[in-house]
Amino acid sequence: MNDKEKVLFEIREENLETGLRGFPVGYCTTSSVDPIKGLIYAGYPIDQVAFWPPEEVIFLLMHGKKGEESQVKEFSEELKAQATLSNEVIEHIKALPKKGHPMKSFPIAILLLGMLEGKEDYRKDCMSLIAKMPHLTAVLINSHAGWGETPPPDPELGYMQNFVNMLQLPGGKSEMLERVLTLFNILHYDHGGGNLSTFVGKAVASGLEDLYGSITSAMSALAGPRHGKANQESLEFTKEALKKSGAKASPDAIEGFLRQKLANKELIYGFGHAVLRVEDPRATVQYKMAEEFYSDNPLVKAALNLRKAGTKVLKENPKITNPYPNVDAISGTLLTAAGFGYPEYYTVLFGLSRVVGISIQIVYERCEARGGKGTPIVRPKYLYKPKTAST
Ligand code: MLT
Repeated sequence: MNDKEKVLFEIREENLETGLRGFPVGYCTTSSVDPIKGLIYAGYPIDQVAFWPPEEVIFLLMHGKKGEESQVKEFSEELKAQATLSNEVIEHIKALPKKGHPMKSFPIAILLLGMLEGKEDYRKDCMSLIAKMPHLTAVLINSHAGWGETPPPDPELGYMQNFVNMLQLPGGKSEMLERVLTLFNILHYDHGGGNLSTFVGKAVASGLEDLYGSITSAMSALAGPRHGKANQESLEFTKEALKKSGAKASPDAIEGFLRQKLANKELIYGFGHAVLRVEDPRATVQYKMAEEFYSDNPLVKAALNLRKAGTKVLKENPKITNPYPNVDAISGTLLTAAGFGYPEYYTVLFGLSRVVGISIQIVYERCEARGGKGTPIVRPKYLYKPKTAST
């Protein structure tokens, strides 16, 4: 930390109860989030890696550098070798209740995998969990949704193609859906060290809970509508915008819809971010794909008009520090346009992806930080304040 940063991050009373916003608490070796440049994976802006094969991006995050062809090949072979869940784990996941949101059963599925197959070794568990996530997620979604039996994995297809192949979508699958799901997967691997689920996962691991238990907590953190579930909420918001502004979702009608929402003091979804002060580059990549392939789709039209009108309307309020769309403003719309119109599972898809970044960050904090000693147990200070009628 340089002197300027030291002054910037002096903790004052007005910084209390602000969600630790902006305070450095450690190092992150996988990615960083710049307010203006957005997400950067190990030195590579997200738009540069968005269309790499997933295995190459995971290698980049794990090793902090782009892999040579032979290294990525070897790494992919390792992933393939560990890609299959045992029948015991599959049966337990299938036995989970179908009632309730799938983000309730998804963390349990990860915990079950740890109970039955965990090695109590952060590095080994990290590799094994990342390798098995496509199978685990496909079994969980197919079973929860009642879409039938999950076929055995075919790891030779590649990390995400294998996942899409196992999904038993009632409406079938297209090559475009595979492209959209792969893009979604890569864009959500990591978002610096301080996003809620990552922070929670590392905090739980700091008590020396194993990787699976730590990731289970992280996934529960992701389930909240202010974090991962915002992608589902944003899609509902876009659908409402379309419904209320007529089939053409004209720019004026969309602007009217937003103004009405603000007048009613209702939430505007898909805009703003704790760190970013520009349009989220993860959204920009997806807007481009939506414009290129689905510009006639009414929901996509609504999302594109929300993009413009939302920023215009929110900019009028000087208190709003970031009036720009975030990743959730378009991800659900793009998934729907490509044939995955099941918003209940969007946060699970986010989790499938984010497990990668969190697991790698936990390995750093437990096995590499502070010369291999690892970071100490997370234990911040809270100031005692007697309860009064006004608190
Ligand atoms: C994320 O991807 O984790 C979200 O954008 C939230 C965050 O970065 O805090």
